[in-house]
Amino acid sequence: MYSNKVVDYGTPKRQSENTVTVHVDGKPVCVPEGTSVMRAATEAGVHVPKLCATDSLESFGSCRLCLVEIDGRRGTPASCTTPCEDGMQVTTQSKKLADLRRGVMELYISDHPLDCLTCPANGHCELQDMAGAVGLRDVRYGYEGDNHLTQDKDESNPYFTFDPTKCIVCSRCVRACDEIQGTLALTVEGRGFESKIASGPTDFMSSECVSCGACVQACPTSTLMEKSIADAGQPDHAVTTTCAYCGVGCSFRAEMQGNEVVRMVPHKDGKANHGHSCVKGRFAWGYATHPDRIQQPMIRKSIQDPWQEVSWEEAFAYAASEIQRIQAKYGKGSVGGITSSRCTNEETFLVQKLVRAGFGNNNVDTCARVCHSPTGYGLKSTLGESAGTQDFDSVEHTDCVIVIGANPTDGHPVFASRMKQRLREGAGLIVIDPRRIDLVRTPHVEADYHLQLRPGANVAVMNALAHVIVTEGLEAKDYIAERCEAEAFDKGKAFVGDERNSPEALEEHTGVPPDQLRGAARLFAAAPNGAIYYGLGVTEHHQGSTGVMTIANLAMVTGNIGRPGVGVNPLRGQNNVQGSCDMGSFPHELPGYRHVSDPDVRALFQAKWGVEIQPEPGLRIPNMFDAAVDGSFKAMYVQGEDIAQSDPDTQHVQQALESLECLIVQDIFLNETAKYAHVIFPGSSFLEKDGTFTNAERRISRVRKVMPPLAGLADWEVTVRFAEALGYDMRYEHPSQIMDEIAALTPTFTGVNYDKLEQLGSIQWPCNDQAPTGTPYMHEQEFVRGKGKFFLTEFLATPERTNKRFPLILTTGRILSQYNVGAQTRRTHNQQWHDEDVLELHAHDAETRGIEHGDLVSLQSRKGDTTMRAVVTDRMQPGVVYTTFHHPESGANVVTTDNSDWATNCPEYKVTAVQVARVVADKSEWQQRYEAFSDRQEELAKQAFASDGEEQPR
Ligand code: SF4
Ligand code: SF4
Ligand code: SF4
Ligand code: FES
Repeated sequence: MYSNKVVDYGTPKRQSENTVTVHVDGKPVCVPEGTSVMRAATEAGVHVPKLCATDSLESFGSCRLCLVEIDGRRGTPASCTTPCEDGMQVTTQSKKLADLRRGVMELYISDHPLDCLTCPANGHCELQDMAGAVGLRDVRYGYEGDNHLTQDKDESNPYFTFDPTKCIVCSRCVRACDEIQGTLALTVEGRGFESKIASGPTDFMSSECVSCGACVQACPTSTLMEKSIADAGQPDHAVTTTCAYCGVGCSFRAEMQGNEVVRMVPHKDGKANHGHSCVKGRFAWGYATHPDRIQQPMIRKSIQDPWQEVSWEEAFAYAASEIQRIQAKYGKGSVGGITSSRCTNEETFLVQKLVRAGFGNNNVDTCARVCHSPTGYGLKSTLGESAGTQDFDSVEHTDCVIVIGANPTDGHPVFASRMKQRLREGAGLIVIDPRRIDLVRTPHVEADYHLQLRPGANVAVMNALAHVIVTEGLEAKDYIAERCEAEAFDKGKAFVGDERNSPEALEEHTGVPPDQLRGAARLFAAAPNGAIYYGLGVTEHHQGSTGVMTIANLAMVTGNIGRPGVGVNPLRGQNNVQGSCDMGSFPHELPGYRHVSDPDVRALFQAKWGVEIQPEPGLRIPNMFDAAVDGSFKAMYVQGEDIAQSDPDTQHVQQALESLECLIVQDIFLNETAKYAHVIFPGSSFLEKDGTFTNAERRISRVRKVMPPLAGLADWEVTVRFAEALGYDMRYEHPSQIMDEIAALTPTFTGVNYDKLEQLGSIQWPCNDQAPTGTPYMHEQEFVRGKGKFFLTEFLATPERTNKRFPLILTTGRILSQYNVGAQTRRTHNQQWHDEDVLELHAHDAETRGIEHGDLVSLQSRKGDTTMRAVVTDRMQPGVVYTTFHHPESGANVVTTDNSDWATNCPEYKVTAVQVARVVADKSEWQQRYEAFSDRQEELAKQAFASDGEEQPR
């Protein structure tokens, strides 16, 4: 029978260069200084009974079950709270200990329901195990005394229950919420017999709880229990895989009954998450089997036509014939493809290969275009490599953190919890954000500085920080002399040192009080290890690439690259943003960020692929849209990406999609883009395929198939078969062979293969002869480009200006419970936390417009308008409003503009001049048109689904 029990050492591992040797029941064991007797015993193979201890939490010493005897010591100390000392002789089994432990267990069991056989945790309950371990046969106190057996269950959370009748008040849940998650949502109320666990004055759902599941994981009984397990029962096997939501890349064990997932358990050995999770990866996986899943290929001539369900063969043949027809009529360059940062490295590699080899052009781009393309450009230029420099563990060595343009507690929650642990230990924190994000003030964490800048002023703020550092002589002189290009530094120093870059001179643009900015600069410069974490609030700007360069400049000028605790850390939005960029998804770069114009690089790929590769870069996504509207771009293959919802200036995107003669969409749902499609290839979820994702740390992790693809083919197989239909043969039996090809063609991947991934668990690239097991942090001795290069980063205000008509600035972001376009999370219980996008605004802006909290308001820009509900909040500064884009009908991107980063065309989602007004009509014109179109398309799809089993009209 499958057992999901993993060895629990009782207390966390200690790191120390000094070791001590103890004897446990006569067995010698050598452990790092500071290790508990309980952990040493477990390492010696001796399992001391325990209840309140678990190795993910600091010991607490409340249950008194783990008592031991130690030679030369009086009494029976708790092994979980007693540190080992050299030469200790520990006894874990004696009559005296057995009697004491039985006495403890009798007390627990006398106040515990005796319903083991019908309990969902039966066979998987530590209390039950311990009753067996201590040999409990009788409860002398009886079961009739005062007890807690009549308390009500809290069923408010959609994913887990809290049944206080089963609680032994070990406080593992409270400590998990404090120590691991850092939310502090739980407390022990009352004392002695009266003590009980509480989620504040409310139920779980209304409390501060963020449903990360850490308490459920820590609970030794079935008090906190996943509803999926209560419903389906315990798993019969498990498969280790990687979360498909955000760029943290948490490792999970998918616990299964046959082909059905019953629970996702964060993997203790996962190097990105160390056993922690957030609500999305832990609980929001139900979308994978949602009835909306498309399970049959479909085709149609026009988007006004009903869909026809067809066989895979017919769909491939039709799609290929359309591409060939269009290329014959309009030219080779009239077609292109879009890869997805949601898909695996192998799938992404194949799509760009199909475009380059099958379509015969470089018209391939990825959704990273609209998020982190400036990261690639900015970091490659300054440091020589298009990726973040550190692993997540690095934050444990940081003395001061800058978080700029990122909201980790919502966007990268598991990493945020790690960061908060370090902040609680005393590391300094500087938040640079227009909005008061949660990190500015959360339990036991308060930012030293919150530089609440005006949206669009990142470059000005970063230049001003650098100004203070160089003009006050705080720069890392030796580091710069040794590691950086002298001439570029001298120029850079003169540039940022100029008075026009002082905090005072830039205040009119930044809105940040100069004394705060100066204080923050001094704090960061003085920290022995300073690390910068950033997100889309840096990249999605008119000066996105310049913003990334200012970050690299600041890290170099303070000597903060090349060791643990420092670095430039882009927090990647989607699960495989790093990977989709690495895999050559950009129109100018082949895998490994090598320019298509380089004849040697092309020769390498041409020899392997047996085709000629065009030397000219192809079209970027915005260029594809423009060309479609102009009539020169006619067909597109989009894998796993909802451009109609996620890209800016929705009406322009819609116009582009309507202009295409053939749109081929490969996706799991009829998303907004698929509503404009002529061919649908059903996609597969991450649970249905093998492959790899690369997270924000450059960590390549395996995605493993836990169930067969619902539509019969995994995504990589679909691309292979589509290529074959086009006449280009790609032959692979398994994604591991695709990775072998990637490794053969990409210098930073030469040492990567599935066997090694199996062995090591995960690998951070570069992985090659110089770094056979990967590279946790980069640029150790020297930068990848040799010397680090400072760039001159002149601040230029965005062309998107406020005026009388559009006096406010809209900025956008995401929320914890929903994910990106929401296609997955909207099909889970996560909807209960966020079922509509809302507009956050400051009380002053609300009041001057007569808007009250909860009013319906119109949001208008030069591009379009929509309506949303207003949320009046002091998170916002006057003049700035904020919304999310998780719900298609709210149309946040109808309002955003086509302004973009000067270097990469990454859209400027973060700055749109808008007006907000109270309205009576509940939908804008666009929303009404959208609704009619969307309803019609859903109806057409339903008709096709309804005709399942019937002969298809052709
Ligand atoms: S809910 Fe579970 S973890 Fe929390 S105190 Fe009760 S038994 Fe312990
Ligand atoms: S689910 Fe997470 S946030 Fe909620 S109470 Fe448990 S540990 Fe705390
Ligand atoms: S933090 Fe990101 S990768 Fe981890 S469980 Fe949450 S969504 Fe998944
Ligand atoms: S396990 Fe040591 S006191 Fe509870």
